[in-house]
Amino acid sequence: MAVSFDHTARQQASKPGDVRPPVEIAPVPTAGNKAMTLTFEIRPATSPTSDEDRAAKLANPGFGRIFTDHMALVRYNQAEGWHGARVESRANFPLDPATAVLHYAQEIFEGLKAYKREDGGVNLFRPDANARRFRNSAERMAMAPLSEPVFIEAVEQLVRTDRAWMPDGEGSLYLRPFMIASEVFLGVKPSAEYIFAVIASPVGSYFKGGPAPVSIWVSENYTRAAVGGTGAVKCGGNYAASLRAQAEAIDHGCDQVVFLDALERRYVEELGGMNVFFVFDDGSLATPPLGTILPGITRDSIIALARDAGTDVREEPYTIEQWRSDAKSGRLKEAFACGTAAVISPIGKVRSASGDFLISGGAAGPVAMGLRKQLVDIQYGRAADPHDWIRKVF
Ligand SMILES: Cc1ncc(COP(=O)(O)O)c(C=O)c1O
Repeated sequence: MAVSFDHTARQQASKPGDVRPPVEIAPVPTAGNKAMTLTFEIRPATSPTSDEDRAAKLANPGFGRIFTDHMALVRYNQAEGWHGARVESRANFPLDPATAVLHYAQEIFEGLKAYKREDGGVNLFRPDANARRFRNSAERMAMAPLSEPVFIEAVEQLVRTDRAWMPDGEGSLYLRPFMIASEVFLGVKPSAEYIFAVIASPVGSYFKGGPAPVSIWVSENYTRAAVGGTGAVKCGGNYAASLRAQAEAIDHGCDQVVFLDALERRYVEELGGMNVFFVFDDGSLATPPLGTILPGITRDSIIALARDAGTDVREEPYTIEQWRSDAKSGRLKEAFACGTAAVISPIGKVRSASGDFLISGGAAGPVAMGLRKQLVDIQYGRAADPHDWIRKVF
């Protein structure tokens, strides 16, 4: 079965401009996958966290360490398709030691946030885009695709059930939809059974006291994704493979790692968990093209907002040598990373084995900060939403 990827020449090519035909992968198991929508049964937790304990946890939630009382769950098998949709008490999964995901890492996930508006209601930011990316990830990983309405319904039902956990102010509820191969079988093949779940984690403001510029380490020993690989989808394996490079970044005193392309080791691709943008002295922006990088929803939103304002935004390859020389000549005014967790992080310093360089003197620049404010104001419902990105849960 030919799989139609929504990607540019860069993914299919060995170098920019050199197009290869789409990749063939094993058929996705779809038998019984008829339901477009499912009704979620809500089973409230019998002993939920007390108001007092919840308030204590919400006082300083950090990132990804505390969780709400419930989870959404949907199961898949070939006979019934997706079935058994419910929201229930968050609990351990009993997994047989031979469960496929534990051996061959057939696993995908998403990350999005719910934001509390000043009127007490709750916004989701572009959940349809996460649902679409999740379906693309499932197809690439030969997993049963979940319909986009079911993905969104699962997220919304969980937010409704756990609405008491919505942080105030600049905090948000981080939502983590994921799918694992749950068939008990050691053969190397697409699993015949899957579990889809959504869990939720209240998170504080990513930067206390305003975004601080990050320092990044250029990974020259390790690459993240190659043409024809899984770089454009959100599978756990991509992150496992990035950890060694991230550890190297920490060893060199940096906050994050930035990866170069796997073929020529010159083109800047993305950070371990964020896309990257460059701001030039003529006011234009550039960002690496899609293909082997994750098509970030923040990246896409920034491109749209910048183009709305008449800014020239180019999606084009940019080498590390060019980055260094543009930073030195002053042609490059700012660089920033972007993603759901931090929205926009200015990049102040780049370190590599061949030397360091600063960007905008190591300080946060006005373009990054302006775009960040625009985006955050839309997310919290404080500004108009010209692209219909907000979905009100209530
Ligand atoms: C590798 C990688 N690139 C980019 C992003 C940014 O994507 P998004 O803006 O959809 O959060 C993420 C975060 O999910 C990521 O893990």
